[in-house]
Amino acid sequence: MSKQQANRGSFSSSIGFILAAAGSAIGLGNLWKFPYVAGNSGGGFFIIAYFLFALILGVPVMLSEMVIGRNTNLNAIGAFQRLNKKWTFVGAIGVIGAFLILSYYSIVGGWVLKYIFSYLIGADFGADKVAYFNNFVASPVEPVIFHLLFLGLTACVVTLGVSGGIEKASKFMLPALFILLIGLVIRSLTLPNAIEGVKFLFVPNTEVFKDASTTSNMLLSAMGQIFFSLSLGMGIMVTYGSYIKKDSNLTTNTFFIIGLDTLMALLSGLVILPAVFSFGYEPAAGPGLIFSIIPAIFEIMPFGSIFGLLFFTLVFLAAITSSMSLLEVVSAYFIDTYKWNRKKVTFILAIAMGIVGIFASLSMGPLSHVTIGGLNIFDTLGFITDKLLMPIGAFCTTIFVGYIWGLNNVKAEVELNGMKFYFYRAYSILIRYIAPVLIFIIFVMGLFA
Ligand code: PFF
Repeated sequence: MSKQQANRGSFSSSIGFILAAAGSAIGLGNLWKFPYVAGNSGGGFFIIAYFLFALILGVPVMLSEMVIGRNTNLNAIGAFQRLNKKWTFVGAIGVIGAFLILSYYSIVGGWVLKYIFSYLIGADFGADKVAYFNNFVASPVEPVIFHLLFLGLTACVVTLGVSGGIEKASKFMLPALFILLIGLVIRSLTLPNAIEGVKFLFVPNTEVFKDASTTSNMLLSAMGQIFFSLSLGMGIMVTYGSYIKKDSNLTTNTFFIIGLDTLMALLSGLVILPAVFSFGYEPAAGPGLIFSIIPAIFEIMPFGSIFGLLFFTLVFLAAITSSMSLLEVVSAYFIDTYKWNRKKVTFILAIAMGIVGIFASLSMGPLSHVTIGGLNIFDTLGFITDKLLMPIGAFCTTIFVGYIWGLNNVKAEVELNGMKFYFYRAYSILIRYIAPVLIFIIFVMGLFA
């Protein structure tokens, strides 16, 4: 290892890495998207499909990214460039994608902070929670301030480095998140009629097999959800992988991260859906669910404002550990390539993302007339990253690993230090034939859906 590589920092232990990477995976995707999508796309059948895709898509792609990172000890762009100059663009897709995702992800992070503050000062979301939320996000100043605050907090952690910042924060935040989640699951499951929510989530709903389009919708939603939820295709696992020590077992790490992410998704379903059904609401998609329905429920629940505060603290922890990974992907590129000082790079990047995010935030209010193909700036950023960059990045990663760099190199990296790659044969089939085809389908369907 060269001196420069030794100076980049590293995770101090495998568990530190697993918690940081799981922190990246567990995020808003688990909390506001999974419960709704799972319930509405077949319940138990969706969950079976989700498990299946986690294994055949999530495992090979995540492992491949981790291998590329650890093999090169470099940021996403540097790693692909080192292995094959012509494929540098795959790393660039990740770095650009991470920049864009964080620009809008931190707006939602800012909303979460606003709700935490509101609960701290005695939550008053008015009679109409939907109107309250819509007015808040459309206002020109407050959401922007919270967005910048959220980004500033993310930058503060990332400035402290890999083991001193990201790893330390994750080691504290993930267990805290888990405890909060368990507490809230218990609260939610003991509400009257909670069983309806559990049924909505778990009972297989044969309606999804009604016709070909509902079935394919379920499969596509499960695949899309796996992607976003596991932070794939954005150079996250390449970058984090570059900080793992050579004696860490990459296959075990992969299963742990995916297992933790799936567990948290199921648990957040068990917090949200029983509460929603118990109070007679309909589960809704997206922001409406956690920023409107949930505050309405906490308002009528005994000690609801305490649970509200705990819930939004949970969402905050989930969001900031994901944000840290996004910022690190971009920062690492500048640190490795230009040898810039971590503090300086991180804050300059946070400011740049802050500025892009300001436009995205205003696009829900004063700038709502600015649209691109019918989408406002916020939704355009989401479209570019989720529907274009993530699938393209992941697709190219599978092709690169399966056909260009070569599976022997993957095997050698996984088997360093006498580790065993038990499922190498399955991996090689998945990464060469199955994953690229599935990702291609997500990509094409995502564009036309
Ligand atoms: N996995 C995160 C979530 O579920 O909220 C979001 C995310 C983080 C997506 C990092 C992509 C990414 F590169």
